[in-house]
Amino acid sequence: MRLSPSPETNFMSSLTSTTPQNAPSLSDPITGNTTAVVGLQWGDEGKGKVIDLLAGSHDAVVRYNGGANAGHSIVIDGQRFALHLIPSGVFRPDTVSVIGNGVVLDPFKLIEEIEGLRERGVEVKNLAISSRAHLVLPYHKLEDAMLEDRLAARGLSIGTTKRGIGPAYSDKANRATSLRVGDLLDTDYLRAKVANLAEYKTDALRSIDPSAEAIEPKRLTDALLDAAETLTPFIEDTAYLLHGMLRKGKSLLFEGANATLLDVDHGTYPFVTSSNCSVLGIPAGTGVPGAEVKQVVGVLKAYSTRVGGGPFPTEQDNEVGDQIRRQGNEYGTTTGRPRRCGWLDLVAVRYAAMVNGCTSLSLMLLDVLSGIEELQVCTRYQIGDDPEAITGRFFPDANRLAGISPLYESLPGFHGDVTKARSFDELPAPARQYIEFIEDFVGLPISIISVGPDRSQTIRRG
Ligand code: GDP
Ligand code: IMO
Ligand code: MG
Repeated sequence: MRLSPSPETNFMSSLTSTTPQNAPSLSDPITGNTTAVVGLQWGDEGKGKVIDLLAGSHDAVVRYNGGANAGHSIVIDGQRFALHLIPSGVFRPDTVSVIGNGVVLDPFKLIEEIEGLRERGVEVKNLAISSRAHLVLPYHKLEDAMLEDRLAARGLSIGTTKRGIGPAYSDKANRATSLRVGDLLDTDYLRAKVANLAEYKTDALRSIDPSAEAIEPKRLTDALLDAAETLTPFIEDTAYLLHGMLRKGKSLLFEGANATLLDVDHGTYPFVTSSNCSVLGIPAGTGVPGAEVKQVVGVLKAYSTRVGGGPFPTEQDNEVGDQIRRQGNEYGTTTGRPRRCGWLDLVAVRYAAMVNGCTSLSLMLLDVLSGIEELQVCTRYQIGDDPEAITGRFFPDANRLAGISPLYESLPGFHGDVTKARSFDELPAPARQYIEFIEDFVGLPISIISVGPDRSQTIRRG
């Protein structure tokens, strides 16, 4: 398949030409607006829905971290889409979709996703892919799965999505063993590099599993060159693209993949992913300075979920958890795994909002809690067995977090169908009380309330 660049890519090329006269002058002020959307829990908060909503008033949606481990669902007029690598602004025809250098990109998966969308009538136009994004290759996925199996045998598995994320970021840090998107543009270099890597990577795989098949360099290079045919028109220096846009007064929306409690530095290490999923990943993952990110929307569910291993203080491995899973259809968008479910943990959310410098919150899946008689909200942790050792701090460390017990406050539950509410006042009084409790505790306004998966099932405030 060969995608032809749409007329809009001329607009992008004019911004990104590498000739010196087209580099933006730094004396031109940045007049463009910038917003980031990030998850405040362990992923799957409904970021895709929020980004799709906000994309309507932005010129570009920019992914800066993660890879195809993300699964962002968007429902428009009853039609459900799941995005893994394509930014969630793709359903807004005038929005540029940017995959920044901080993303690890599986080129085959990206093409599959573009084709899948096209089959459903969605044309991926205005796509820009950073030449400096690193590639996820089939052997990364194999290594991910092998390592997980090995760890599982020792009861240590992370429960990764097996999308090759950890091994690809390891290679990025290793330098000599990685390939970048820009390498697809130089056939001779690519062939030589893959030949070297195939040998090295075969040895690495065999050190985990001696029966691993040898990587065939010619087959892999041919497949990559095939993919390059499709992707070449979209490969850019996206840092120049974004700075050019900002200086032309265009607005950017940064799309966090995964979530803050999975951030490799600020999450529940080692049960995290391998990138900076919080806003702290934006500068490194796009080349746009952090100081330019003006609004930060933290997205949270009205309860908590987690997929994979790791501590989860408010987990309800009981009828309450099952009810939330049933009502919220809590099964992974990427892997289909049942998500672990529990009460809202405001200690964790307030920590995540602090790390991100959130300016507002989006509260998602409120409808799922309808019918639960009494709602529990965790507001403090008890450390160990000492009832005097109470803290409002979160511990971004799996061992320490495993040693705390959550302390709850009870709030009255609400009943009935809230999915048709379109204003705050239409919600039942206990639901409004729940929302105001969260706002007071975290100290931030909730400007979006989601009462169903569809784009239209949304309450905007303020
Ligand atoms: P993301 O990874 O943060 O984009 O979230 P996911 O798409 O993986 O998971 C969120 C799930 O909740 C998806 O199935 C959404 O369609 C769904 N969803 C989003 N908002 C709401 C809501 O307000 N109510 C309900 N019932 N479902 C929602
Ligand atoms: P979105 O963007 C939920 C979890 C995995 C695993 C850990 C490491 O849809 O919110 P990885 O494959 O990244 O090495 O897995 O992180 N994880 C997610 N959980 N939503 C996600 O993304 C996730 N991305 C990674 O389940 O526990
Ligand atoms: Mg998801």
